Amino acid sequence: MNKTIKPISSINTTITVPGDKSISHRAVMFGSLAKGDTEITGFLTGDDCMSTISCFKKLGVDIDIDGEHIIVHGKGLHGLCAPSEMLDVGNSGTTIRLISGILAAQPFDTTLNGDASIQKRPMKRVINPLTEMGAHIESTNDGYAPLTIHGKKLHAIEYTMPVASAQVKSSILLASLFAEGETVINEPVASRDHTEIMLNYFGADITNTDGKIVSKPVKELYGKPVQVPGDISSAAFFMVAGLIVPDSHIIIKNVGINPTRTGIIDALKAMGGDINILNERSAGGEAVADIEVKTSKLKATTLSGEIIPRMIDEIPVFTIAALHAEGTTTVKDAQELKVKESNRIATMAQELKKMGVDITETDDGMIIPGEQALKGAITESHLDHRVAMSIAIAALTAEGDTTINNADCVAISFPDFYEILDSLA
Ligand code: S3P
Repeated sequence: MNKTIKPISSINTTITVPGDKSISHRAVMFGSLAKGDTEITGFLTGDDCMSTISCFKKLGVDIDIDGEHIIVHGKGLHGLCAPSEMLDVGNSGTTIRLISGILAAQPFDTTLNGDASIQKRPMKRVINPLTEMGAHIESTNDGYAPLTIHGKKLHAIEYTMPVASAQVKSSILLASLFAEGETVINEPVASRDHTEIMLNYFGADITNTDGKIVSKPVKELYGKPVQVPGDISSAAFFMVAGLIVPDSHIIIKNVGINPTRTGIIDALKAMGGDINILNERSAGGEAVADIEVKTSKLKATTLSGEIIPRMIDEIPVFTIAALHAEGTTTVKDAQELKVKESNRIATMAQELKKMGVDITETDDGMIIPGEQALKGAITESHLDHRVAMSIAIAALTAEGDTTINNADCVAISFPDFYEILDSLA
C-alpha cells in the first residue's frame, strides 16, 4: 500500500496510542512461563507482538485473544512443549532475541526464523553470552537467523554488556531463570528495564545495584494482571507533530514514562519543546502519565552518551524535530541505529534528501542543519515501520503532498497510525 499525506495547518486534539510493544511482548512471554493466568489489557495487536503470541502457541501455551484483551494460560517454568514446526518471528528482533534465552534451556530443539530484515540482524550478541551459559545454538552465516537452538542445561555467568541492549540483557535474564547459580550482568549504560520490573512482579529475584544486575533462581513465576501503558515510542510521532506544526496543542493520554524510555522527552525539552507531564501514576511498577505538547520554537542540540539507549527507537522522528530547530543538531554514539529494522541512519538520510533536506550521515549518527524547508516527495519506507511514520510526520510541514511507498509496515507497532494521522486534519 502507498500512503499520500498532505501538509496540515494546525493540530488540536486528544489521542491515545496503542500499547507498549516491549511490555506487550514480555507479558506474553513471562505469562507463558508463569503458573496460572496472566490477563493482559491494552495489549499491542501489532504484527510483532502477534508473532510472539504465535511462537508461544506453537510451544503449547493456550492464549485467548479478544482484541487488546489477552489471557495467557501459563505453563509454569518447565511446562513448554517441543514445537512441531519452525517458529516464525516475522520482523521482530525482540521476539527472536528474548525467546532464544528461554529456548536455550528447554529439553528440546527449536528452529527460529523470520523475514528478510530479521535475517540481516546480528544474533551473535545473544549467541555469545548464551553459549557461555552452556547453550548450543547453530546459526546461518556465523551469526544470523535462521537459528537452531539445541536445549541444554545452563549455568550462571557474569557478563559485561558490550552494547547497551535490553534485548540482549533480557535474553540472558530469561536464561538465568533456568540456570544453576546466580547470574550477574554488568550494564555500563542503562537500557530499558521492563524485563526486570515485570519478572520481579511475577516473583523473580532480580536486583540492580549501580548497573550490576543479579538474578537469583526462583522455583516458579506466578501470573498476574498486566495493564500495558501506551507506547512512548508511538507517542513520540505525535509529540514531534505537536511541536513542529503551527498553532498546535495535543494531549496524548496514558503513555508509559519509565525513565529508561524518556530520552525523547528530555531531548525535546532541552531543545525548548513545550511538553508537560500530567496525571503521573503507576501500574505494575511502570510509570504512566498523560503528555501535553504545544507548538514550540526549537533550538538545536547534541545527543550523545547515556541518552541514546533511552531514545534509540525515537531518533528517526527526532531528526524531524531537528530539521525545524534553529542551529545544527548532532546525533552521536547511535551506531546501533544501523542494525535496526533497517539501517536507520542511511534510510532516514536517503528519504529526507528526497524531501529536499541537507543531512549528513556519520559513522555513529547524523548532522542535521535546522530551519530547513521540506518539499513533498515520493518516498520509500524500506519496510521499516519507524521510518514510514517519521516521514509521515515530516510530510505534515512539507510544501505539497508526500507519498510513502510500502507504507503498511506501520502495522508492526502502530496499526491505526494513519487513522489517527488522518483525523488530525
Ligand atoms: C527493545 C529493545 C531495543 C529497541 C527495540 C525493543 C526491547 O532494542 O530498539 O525496539 O523490547 O527490549 P535493543 O535493546 O537491541 O537496543
